[in-house]
Amino acid sequence: MIAQARWRRMVVGGAVLGVVAASSIVGCALFQSEQVSKGRELYNHYCSHCHGENGRQNEGYNWASMPDPKPKDLSNKSEMSTFKDEEIFNTISRDMKDTSPEGGDKIGDDEFAVPTMPTFKYTLSEEEIWSIVAYVRTLHGMKLTYNVEERKKEIKDALQAAQAKYDEAKAAYEAAEKKANEEAEQKGKEVDDDAYAKEAAALAAAKKALDEAKNVDERFAKRPKFPQVARPDLAMKPDAAEKSTELGKRLYTNKYGCNACHAVNQEGGKVGPALDRAGFRLNPSWVYRWIKYPQAMKPESRMPNLGISDQDAKAISLYLSTLRAPREAQVADKPAS
Ligand code: HEC
Ligand code: HEC
Repeated sequence: MIAQARWRRMVVGGAVLGVVAASSIVGCALFQSEQVSKGRELYNHYCSHCHGENGRQNEGYNWASMPDPKPKDLSNKSEMSTFKDEEIFNTISRDMKDTSPEGGDKIGDDEFAVPTMPTFKYTLSEEEIWSIVAYVRTLHGMKLTYNVEERKKEIKDALQAAQAKYDEAKAAYEAAEKKANEEAEQKGKEVDDDAYAKEAAALAAAKKALDEAKNVDERFAKRPKFPQVARPDLAMKPDAAEKSTELGKRLYTNKYGCNACHAVNQEGGKVGPALDRAGFRLNPSWVYRWIKYPQAMKPESRMPNLGISDQDAKAISLYLSTLRAPREAQVADKPAS
């Protein structure tokens, strides 16, 4: 199916891409087994409903009700071994793309962009995601070779270097400011701010770099945190609301793959509740706040934070408010078509 090939990563002819020699022994065995067991725990909670406990097809309870493509068989070594550790990491930790054939996002040829495989970038820490990759490797009899300890060390070193630069810039700024003050006093004039503008700019740049390094360090070890989601203003003119609702319907399937976990009219996954009657049961501004940041309301929810933009969240909330099936429709069998 051509339409599908557009957003499915191609496995390059099953070729063995550059056999990497076991060049270094990575980490110690104890660290590795701790990493794998942490990864198993997270996998069981966030992945197994779709991919199965052992990564096999039709093993997870959600597998059969999912739309195509079905979750990848993670136990298949000949296929999984064509992916580098970093590629698996990037699949789990990515931004969702609108895969609509018309008006969607640009998607690179070998970019993975299946909407029904959720991202965990906005839910888990980088370290947690690496531990999941380590566990996924064991499902097809391999081991993680990416050196996570080295990555951790690089982050710490970069943070230290940024701190040292900042301290240096601060000292230079204070010295230049003092000098300008002294000169002004000697000459009985006002302080010339321009005299130490260069040092002030250098200090601001060093502060920015330090904040960035701190951010990377935080993101490595801790789950992402976001400010509380403000109550949205969903009031719109009727034609704007209609457009937004249409957009929401499209994004629901083509970008965020909500249908992977939720059923409407008996179609779609069953990890979360069916949404046929969402328009009666749920308040759109509550839906907006929930889908923007489920972990704020329920930290261990299996529904990940999908990094939904404000505009997309509005559109999807409006779309859900139009789902108003009569009570019996949700349980009735799907009519033959
Ligand atoms: C809602 C169901 C669902 C959940 C939850 C889910 N996946 Fe997936 N996963 C999919 C689907 C669908 C695909 C795409 C299969 C394809 O393209 O053939 C996929 C593909 C993958 C791939 C292959 C990517 C590639 O490059 O082809 C990996 C690796 C993967 N998932 C790992 C995970 C991990 C790890 C988790 C948990 C952190 C997870 N998945 C959670 C549905 C899911
Ligand atoms: C990986 C599975 C998964 C994906 C993807 C997912 N959800 Fe959920 N969703 C859940 C689960 C599980 C719950 C139940 C809340 C809980 O117990 O954590 C839920 C709850 C909800 C609820 C509250 C339903 C109720 O009746 O209380 C809404 C609304 C919702 N999701 C909408 C969405 C939308 C819209 C999307 C796409 C942007 C989406 N979900 C994507 C799993 C998922």
